[in-house]
Amino acid sequence: MMLKNSSTDYGFIAKCFHWGTALLFLASYVSVYYRQWFTEAKTPENWTALQLHLSVGVSLGVIVVLRIIWRGINQAPESEPGSKLEHLAAHLGHYALYAVMIIMPLTGYLGTGVNTEFFFLFDVPKFEDTWLFTFIVQDLMGLSFKAFETPIDFIHKEIFGAWLVWLLILGHVLAALYHHYGKGDRTLKKMTSGKP
Ligand code: HEM
Ligand code: HEM
Repeated sequence: MMLKNSSTDYGFIAKCFHWGTALLFLASYVSVYYRQWFTEAKTPENWTALQLHLSVGVSLGVIVVLRIIWRGINQAPESEPGSKLEHLAAHLGHYALYAVMIIMPLTGYLGTGVNTEFFFLFDVPKFEDTWLFTFIVQDLMGLSFKAFETPIDFIHKEIFGAWLVWLLILGHVLAALYHHYGKGDRTLKKMTSGKP
């Protein structure tokens, strides 16, 4: 099995990053909605679900940095034939997905009022307790945590979390299905079995 991408297929490492990221997105949604829909405030289950959301999100933040470094040193396979507009849309879509993979963990971390008990193994201190918060937000911007957190939470929950991320992923999945079943090209196979 090839580790690196070839001109025709994604390699094992890029596939692990891609499908691992997709699973972590799913896990972050399952944990947060489970917390909201199926648990009572201030119960141990409510706390566990929140901590799983934070732990999964922090993992995603670390993994996406590694993914972007790997993408930088390992060229993607060549695109399947298509119009200029299709290629442009695909590139813009991928950039937008990378942006979301950075924005979600970042806004989540910056706006969270509790430490992350990383899978209950060790604590990641909340942003408010770091020197960066004191230096940038308090001293330079002159803001309290509440004033800083409100717009960031709005972006994390209301704008991106509630619908923009879903919309982008839906568009991405539909595009993959269109390539596979509509055009019958190798776009999906490049990221899965690698078969001709
Ligand atoms: C891919 C990563 C992430 C995704 C997709 C995601 C998504 C979401 C969604 C959909 C919500 C609920 C929105 C609503 O109230 O309807 C939410 C809430 C929240 N997220 Fe994230 N999040 C991610 C990462 C993070 C990270 C890294 C942290 C912090 C370390 C974090 C902290 C929070 C907190 C504290 C809430 C409020 C929980 C609640 O009110 O139940 N998130 N997130
Ligand atoms: C069932 C879900 C998914 C399917 C079927 C799918 C399918 C694919 C396919 C076929 C490609 C290759 C496209 C090409 O080379 O032109 C791809 C690339 C990509 N996917 Fe997904 N994907 C899924 C979920 C996700 C999720 C959840 C994310 C991130 C939030 C994501 C982010 C990306 C990115 C950034 C690329 C570009 C990779 C690169 O060349 O750097 N995908 N996906």
